Amino acid sequence: MKIAIIGYGKMGHEIERLAKTKGIEVAAVIDPTDSSAAFKEINKEALSQADVVIDFSVPDAVAENVRRVSSLGKNMVVGTTGWYNSLNDVKDLVKKSNIGFIYSPNFSIGVNLFFRIVDESSKLVNKISDYDVFVYEGHHNQKADSPSGTARALGDIILRNVKRKKRLVFDKLDRKILPEELHVASFRAGFIPGTHVVGFDSEADTIELKHTARSRAGFALGALLAAQWLKGKTGFFTMDDFISDFFK
Ligand SMILES: NC(=O)c1ccc[n+]([C@@H]2O[C@H](COP(=O)([O-])OP(=O)(O)OC[C@H]3O[C@@H](n4cnc5c(N)ncnc54)[C@H](OP(=O)(O)O)[C@@H]3O)[C@@H](O)[C@H]2O)c1
Repeated sequence: MKIAIIGYGKMGHEIERLAKTKGIEVAAVIDPTDSSAAFKEINKEALSQADVVIDFSVPDAVAENVRRVSSLGKNMVVGTTGWYNSLNDVKDLVKKSNIGFIYSPNFSIGVNLFFRIVDESSKLVNKISDYDVFVYEGHHNQKADSPSGTARALGDIILRNVKRKKRLVFDKLDRKILPEELHVASFRAGFIPGTHVVGFDSEADTIELKHTARSRAGFALGALLAAQWLKGKTGFFTMDDFISDFFK
C-alpha cells in the first residue's frame, strides 16, 4: 500500500517512521510550512501515487483538506482533532465524492482495547452495588486541555453501563460527592505519558484498570492499520467500525 501524509509534525513523522517498518510506502508528504515536505499543497500530482491519505495536521485545515482529497477521489484517514464542528459538511463531501473516510480522536489500538475492557467490566460492576467507580488521568505539563478526551470517553462508557451513575464531575469538589456522580479527576506534571485509570472500589477491596501510553507509536500504528482497512472501501466510518472488524 502507498500513503500520502498531510501534516509533517510529530505525528506525521511518526507515521512515516512506522510505515517504513511495515512495508508501507510513503508516496508523498504534504505540509505548507515544513521545508522537508515534498509538497506544499494537496493537488493531483501530490496524491497521484497514494492509495490512502492520512491527515494529522491542524483543526482549521481539515475541512479544506477533505474537500481537496475527496475531489481527487482518494480515501482518507483523519487523526487531527478539534474540527468536529465541520463534521456534517465532511460527511456530505464523503457521500458526494463516494470515497472511503475514517476519523477518530484516538487511533491507539491499546486505548480502544482498554475501552472494550472498561465496557465489559463496568457491565459486571453494574450488578454489584457495593462497588463505587472512579476515573483519573495524568498527562505531561504541555497538554493544553483537561480532562482528556479519552477520560471523557471512559466516563461515558461507565455512565452507559453503571445505571446508578448519572453524571460525570470533572471539577475540584468542595462538597461530598453524590452517589450518582462519577468523579473524573486530572493531574498534569513533567513528562507523564498519557495515563488513564478506571477503578472499582468496595469496602473490601479495590480493582484498578490502567492504560499507560508509552509513545506516539500506538496512535501511528492504529492510523496505519485503519488506512490498510480503508483501502478500497467507500463510506463514512468511525473507529468503532474498524475496531469491531479488528477484534472479530
Ligand atoms: N487521533 C489520534 O490518535 C491522535 C493522536 C495524536 C495526535 N492527534 C492530533 O493530530 C494532530 C497533529 O498532532 P501533532 O502532534 O502531529 O501536531 P504538530 O506536531 O503540531 O503537527 C501538525 C503539523 O501540521 C502542519 N500544518 C499546518 N497547517 C497545515 C495544512 N493546511 N496542511 C497540512 N499540514 C499543516 C503544521 O505546520 P505548522 O507547525 O507550520 O503549523 C505541523 O507541521 C493534532 O490535532 C492532534 O490533536 C491525534
